[in-house]
This record gives sequence, C-alpha cells and structure tokens, in this order.
Amino acid sequence: NLVYVLNGPNLNLLGTREPEIYGSATLDDIAGMLEDRARELGLEVDVRQSNHEGHLVDWLHEARAEGAKAVLLNAGAYTHTSIALLDAIKAIGVPVIEVHLSDPSTREPFRHLSYVGMGAVDEVKGLGPQSYIVALEKAAAL
Ligand code: DQA
Repeated sequence: NLVYVLNGPNLNLLGTREPEIYGSATLDDIAGMLEDRARELGLEVDVRQSNHEGHLVDWLHEARAEGAKAVLLNAGAYTHTSIALLDAIKAIGVPVIEVHLSDPSTREPFRHLSYVGMGAVDEVKGLGPQSYIVALEKAAAL
C-alpha cells in the first residue's frame, strides 16, 4: 500500500516561492498532511523532491521495483518538457496521477502542454496543497 509522491524542480522552495501562486505551505507541511491522510486511508507515502530530471526517472523505475500502488507526480516545469518522464511513466506500469498546486491550463501558454498528462491516469490541479490530498484519495480508490 505504498504510494510514491515525487516532486520536481523548485518545489523545495515551496513556502517562499511565488507565494501568490503556490501558497505559503512548505513541502514538509504538505508531506505531513499526506502522512496524516495516508494513515487514515491505510496507505504509506514516500515523499521525495529533486531538481534533477534523471532522479525523477530513477524514482519512477524504483516505484515499480518496490511494487508501489501508485505514484503522485508533480514534475514542476518538467511536466511541460520531459519526454523522458513520459516514457518512464509508460514503461513502469504503475498508475501515475499528475498533481499541480496551481492550474497550469489557466497560466502561460507554455504550461498548457503536459507530457506527464499523456501518460498519467488522472490529474488534480489548482487546489494548492489540497491537490496532493485529493490525488492521494484517488490513489486509494485505484
Ligand atoms: C507546478 C506548475 C508548473 O507549471 C510549474 O513549473 C511548477 C509548479 C504546480 O504545482 O503548480 O514548478 O507544477
């Protein structure tokens, strides 16, 4: 009942990064919220962050090797650029749910394309930290 929660570039700066867009919660705050909700749902979460695309690819592979039930993926800007992440999502056979704090579809045009979305089974966006909680509930229901 393991769910990987993978976070991409600049999400280590949550809390201070463009708070008018991303809010004031830190990634540690979000991890705490996820751990609480996971306990209620009978799940275990492994929350990680990297600024490096290849680490995210490696962790997607690891999710399969560890038999994870699902992956919640906020790939940050790699969402909009990374064919490597799309290929990894397609390769692993573990359901991936795309997560965003903001709603990229209402922001700059370069955020409207999502490679992650082409492989993900579902997406939750625009709810701030609550996006992660709703995504975890969707993962529990898979
Ligand atoms: C984001 C949206 C992306 O467009 C942006 O590059 C991020 C954060 C979000 O959670 O709203 O880094 O993924």
